[in-house]
Amino acid sequence: MNVSVRGLGKRYGSVRAVNEVTLDVRAGEFLSLLGPSGSGKTTLMMMIAGFEMPSAGKIWVGDRDVTHVAPNRRDVGMVFQRYALFPHMTVADNIAFPLRMRKIAKDETARRVADALAMVQLEGYEKRLPGELSGGQQQRVAVARALVFEPPVLLMDEPLGALDKKLREQMQIEIKRLQQRLGVTVIYVTHDQEEALTMSDRIAVMRDGSVEQVGSPSELYDSPSTSFVADFVGKTNFLDCECRKSNGKGLEISLGKSGLILAQLPPSLKVSPAPGDRMRLAVRPEQIRMLSVEEKVSPALEGIVEAVIFVGSFRTFLVRLAGGELVHVQVHIDHEVSYPREGDRVSLAIPSQAVHVFPAARC
Ligand SMILES: Nc1ncnc2c1ncn2[C@@H]1O[C@H](COP(=O)(O)OP(=O)(O)OP(=O)(O)O)[C@@H](O)[C@H]1O
Ligand SMILES: [Mg+2]
Repeated sequence: MNVSVRGLGKRYGSVRAVNEVTLDVRAGEFLSLLGPSGSGKTTLMMMIAGFEMPSAGKIWVGDRDVTHVAPNRRDVGMVFQRYALFPHMTVADNIAFPLRMRKIAKDETARRVADALAMVQLEGYEKRLPGELSGGQQQRVAVARALVFEPPVLLMDEPLGALDKKLREQMQIEIKRLQQRLGVTVIYVTHDQEEALTMSDRIAVMRDGSVEQVGSPSELYDSPSTSFVADFVGKTNFLDCECRKSNGKGLEISLGKSGLILAQLPPSLKVSPAPGDRMRLAVRPEQIRMLSVEEKVSPALEGIVEAVIFVGSFRTFLVRLAGGELVHVQVHIDHEVSYPREGDRVSLAIPSQAVHVFPAARC
C-alpha cells in the first residue's frame, strides 16, 4: 500500500520538528529516512503512525486520508525507537497481542507467534517477561510483534539500534527478505548510512525537519544535490575552491596552490558559477586516480603520501596537497601492482564527472 505525506509539519512551541515534508512512498517500497539526531525522523514517523497530530498537512495510506484516523485503524505497524513492550506480559503474549486485538483464532495465533519468534531467533523465550531480556532481545520481540499481523505498511524507527554488529547485519537481511516476501511497504529510520544504502529502494535524507533529497542509493551517492547529502551518504573529500572559467557545460576549478581540475556542470546547480566565485567541491575517495609524478596527466593535483591505511582488500592513501589540504584516495589492491609509500610524491587525477561542485554559501 502506498503512503503519501503532503506538506506535513509539526511544531512544538517555537521548535519546528518537521517542516512541510512532502513524500510519496510506493506500494511495496523500502524507503529509509536518513538524517542526524534531531532532524525530525521520529516525529515524522509518529505522525504517520497516528501518535502525534500534525500542525499542518495531510497523510494518506493507500487511497485513504488518515490524517485524523486513530492509530489502530491505519493499517500501519510500528516498531518504536524505544521499544514499548508490555512489561507484565510474556514474550509470547506481547507478540500475540496484535492478533488478539484482531480476533485471530487461537491455533492460527500460536502458529504465527512461533513463526515470528523463529524469525527473530528467539525460540525458547516464549515465557520470559521483557524485564528478563537484554535490550537487543527486547528490540527483536518488538520487531516480531510489529510483523506478526502482517500490516501492509510497517514503520520502523531505528529497530536495530541496540544490537551488536553481527546480529544487526543478520536482522537487516531478515527484515529485507520478509519485506520482499510479504510485499509490505516499509518506512525505516536509521542514522547509519551503510544500513540505509544496503536495505533501501530509496532514501530520503533529512536535515532540520526537511527532506533534503530523495533518491535511490546510487542517485544519492553519484549525484548528491547538496554538500550535506554528499557528506552524509558515503565518504567524501571536500575541498574549498574557486571557479576559474565556465563555458556553460564545464568548469575549470582552481584549488589555489594545490592546482587545477576540471568539473562538469551539475544539473542541480541553479545558478551557473562565474569566474572568481568561491565554491566547495566533493569527490569520492575511490574516484581519484593516483599516479606517480612521472606519469602525470594534466590537469592534476600534486601531493605527498602522508599515511597508508589498510582496509581489507582496499587501501586508503592520505595525500597532503601543496596547499595543505588532506585528500583520501581509496584504491582496490591488485597484488601485481606496486603502490606509493609514505613520503612518495604522487599526482592525483580526478575525472571531471566525479567532481561535484556546490556554492560555498550553502555549505
Ligand atoms: N515532545 C517534544 N517537545 C518538544 N520538542 C520536541 C519533542 N519531540 C521532539 N522534539 C524536537 O523536535 C526535533 C526533532 O526530533 P526527533 O525526535 O523527530 O528527531 P530524530 O531525527 O528522530 O532524532 P534521533 O536520531 O536523535 O532519534 C528535535 O529538535 C527535538 O528536540
Ligand atoms: Mg528519533
